[in-house]
Parts: sequence; structure tokens; C-alpha cells
Amino acid sequence: MRDEPRDKVTAPAVRAAKGGPKLRMITAYDAPSARIADSAGADIILVGDSVANVVLGRDTTLTVTVDDMVHHTRAVSGVRPAALVVGDMPWMSYHVSVEDTVRNAGRLVREGGAEAVKLEGGRKRIPMIEAVLGAEIPVMGHIGLTPQSVHAMGGYRVQGKQVEAARALIADARALDDAGVFSIVLEGVPDVLAELITKEVGAPTIGIGAGPKVDGQVLVFHDLLGLGDGRIPKFVRQYADLGEIAVAAVTRFFEDVQKGDFPAEAETYHMPDEVARALLSDDPGAA
Ligand code: KIV
Repeated sequence: MRDEPRDKVTAPAVRAAKGGPKLRMITAYDAPSARIADSAGADIILVGDSVANVVLGRDTTLTVTVDDMVHHTRAVSGVRPAALVVGDMPWMSYHVSVEDTVRNAGRLVREGGAEAVKLEGGRKRIPMIEAVLGAEIPVMGHIGLTPQSVHAMGGYRVQGKQVEAARALIADARALDDAGVFSIVLEGVPDVLAELITKEVGAPTIGIGAGPKVDGQVLVFHDLLGLGDGRIPKFVRQYADLGEIAVAAVTRFFEDVQKGDFPAEAETYHMPDEVARALLSDDPGAA
């Protein structure tokens, strides 16, 4: 893995990156995936609540808790990546009171080691976002196809395809920008709308299923590497099939076990010959 030292990425640095090279963001949920993301040069590692789907094998993100997110965020921050670590706020951690929202965001920072948090939604989340920012925690916004709204949306559907819905998303993006988020994820929206929003706001936009005219891109680690369940959304480009490589490797291990080829001499611990002889002579079964 590449391990050149690089400067720590901060939320203000991400905010200032608008108009520069495209931002590189990927999800990670544990130490190995965080090391891979960081070695590849990620600007931002998102400990996404997509952990529910790609790690915990659940159908929706609605099942993960603040405790789950703290647990995974701690694993990622523990490798001390140069990338900015963003902890995703799970469903119902910022939907009740402003006080609980700040307390939950604080847990992701204090216990999980997150350097910023992300939460879904536009204008109706502004009081929560302002309170979290008031506690000195940088916030990343997330609008469009917001998976925590799966039931309200009636499924995972591209958002903002009609004029009124598109205008509502532009208003949401403006409100997030005015509130002071340091970046905005645009998920599952038409390219023209994503481009309009990107021109409209000062915060960099990071797209996932939002076309190319945004300030950065994010993909889910397991989707990009072929470690999923085979269902690949249209917007994903799969860069490797690590699932296939892994099955082949484990199959070879099992074959070697059955052939008696594993472990070999070099993979075996030994004791000094005289100890072995003494031990074997104790053994009533030994010659
Ligand atoms: O949880 C997640 O992985 C996300 C990304 C899709 C942006 O929110």
C-alpha cells in the first residue's frame, strides 16, 4: 500500500476546495477499508450508515444505531487517516430534539473520533444543523435520494425529476449552504439539477448518482470493489471484483487443506529436537 505522508485534510480545507481538483470521497467502515481508502489518496472517508447494507447485510439503513456508528467510526479513525473522517448520523439520531441531535453528533466525535458529521435532509433539518455547528462540529449535508427516507419516498427513486421537486432541492441546497455546511452530498438526482445546485452554492457538492458536473464524487467501498451482493446500481462503476478473487483464494486454501498441502514446513512452528525427543519418549504410544 502507498504510504507517503500527506497533510491532514480538514473540513475548512474541503470547504475551500470548491473550484479546485475534484474531491475524492469513499466510504469505509473498519481499519482495513480505511487504510485502503487513505493509501489511495481519499480526501474524505465517510463512515456511512450504508454499513447496514454492505457490512451488516440488512435491507435498509434504518436499522443502525448511534452505538453502531460510534463502533465503526472508531475503527476508521483509529488508523489515523490523512483523509477527513466524517461520521454518518443514523436515522432517529437527529429527528427528535435539537439537544439529542447535538448529543449524538458529539458521541460520533468524542467516542468515534469523527472530525465532522453528515446528516440527511434540507430545510427541515436546519435547526439541527445550526445546533451541531454551534457545538463546533462541522456538518456535511446530504440531499436528493436520501436512503433514510426510503419509506417516505416510496422506494429508492431518483429525486428532483420534475420542475417543482427540482426547485425544492435547489432551495434545500441553498438553505444548507447558508447554514454553513462544509459540503453537500447530492445523491440520485439528474445531472442538470446537480450542475445547477453546484453553481448555486458555495459549499462543494459531492455526487453519487448525480452526474459529472459536481465538485467531487463518492462511491460505497464494497460497490466499487465488487464486494457486494451482486446488485449494482446504475451509477456505480465497479473497478475490481475482489469478491471473485476472495472466493478463489479461499477455495485454494480449502483444496490445500484437503490435499494435506497446508500447512507446509515453513508455516509450522517447531521445538528443539531434544525437547521433541524427550516429549515423544514420554508418550506411551511413541516408538
Ligand atoms: O451511507 C453512505 O454510504 C452514504 C453515501 C452513499 C453518501 O451516505
